[in-house]
Amino acid sequence: MRHLMSPLDFTVEELDKLFTLADDIEHNPAKYAHACTGKKLATCFYEPSTRTRLSFESAMLSLGGNVLGFSDAGSSSAAKGESVSDTIRMISCYADICAMRHPKEGAPMVAATKSSIPVINAGDGGHQHPTQTLTDLLTIRAIKGRLNNFTIGLCGDLKFGRTVHSLINALVRYDNINFVFISPDELKIPEYIIEMLREKDIPYREVTALEDVMSELDILYMTRVQRERFFNEEDYVRLKDFYILNKEKMALAKDDMIVLHPLPRVNEISVEVDDDPRAVYFRQVQYGVYVRMALLLTLLEITVEE
Ligand code: CP
Repeated sequence: MRHLMSPLDFTVEELDKLFTLADDIEHNPAKYAHACTGKKLATCFYEPSTRTRLSFESAMLSLGGNVLGFSDAGSSSAAKGESVSDTIRMISCYADICAMRHPKEGAPMVAATKSSIPVINAGDGGHQHPTQTLTDLLTIRAIKGRLNNFTIGLCGDLKFGRTVHSLINALVRYDNINFVFISPDELKIPEYIIEMLREKDIPYREVTALEDVMSELDILYMTRVQRERFFNEEDYVRLKDFYILNKEKMALAKDDMIVLHPLPRVNEISVEVDDDPRAVYFRQVQYGVYVRMALLLTLLEITVEE
């Protein structure tokens, strides 16, 4: 039995297989429509979500399976003090696989140690968000045709943004990736990630002005400032509109640069950018369903014959 806690739980070869499966699912959905008949997915979300929870549910329903779960810790027995370890023991009796989001870093890992079904980390605090990373990688692979040889700018809240931390961890395994970290001083990328890049001799730069680097980028990964992880509202208000991607800034970019965003968006991308063909963040959401379908099949060890 396998869990998914970090994108590094899969080798590059396994990821390639997963993305090939996701690609086949995209182009031949009927082939997979009954692959999970009789299987149940539990979605245990202790923190708000739209995309991750609903894309997991959509994925399982598209595979012919069923879904149960909760979307709010307050409506579960966590509100009465039940531990994650005890909850997952219950869930193991009700479902075949579980996707768990939790505000505490490491909570899905604790659940995995007590679980008799596969557990997927659907986001833990400011730590990791591996299925968003799978979504991001599949989107890049599908649109750019490769997962190597590019310059990626990661912009916004690089301190608290778990999607950023997971994506960097995953991308360092591919050749010739050049990182540009774009953030205010207060929201810089954590030092442990910088140390990891230095150890691996992977090129990176830290800058403050998005305009200064726009023309160099093959991919721009925008993120929102994570209000829920700030200790005080004053700092959030000061930093929340630090970056706003608009038409003027897009005019500085390459014709084939793409803009990704894990979403939800707040103000950091102006809606006028949505119609630019380089803005692919809504296509990214669709790839999130395909890759989660592929992940459910892989962790449930279900193969679909030609
Ligand atoms: N990208 C993402 O995790 O979105 P949700 O918080 O809506 O799940």
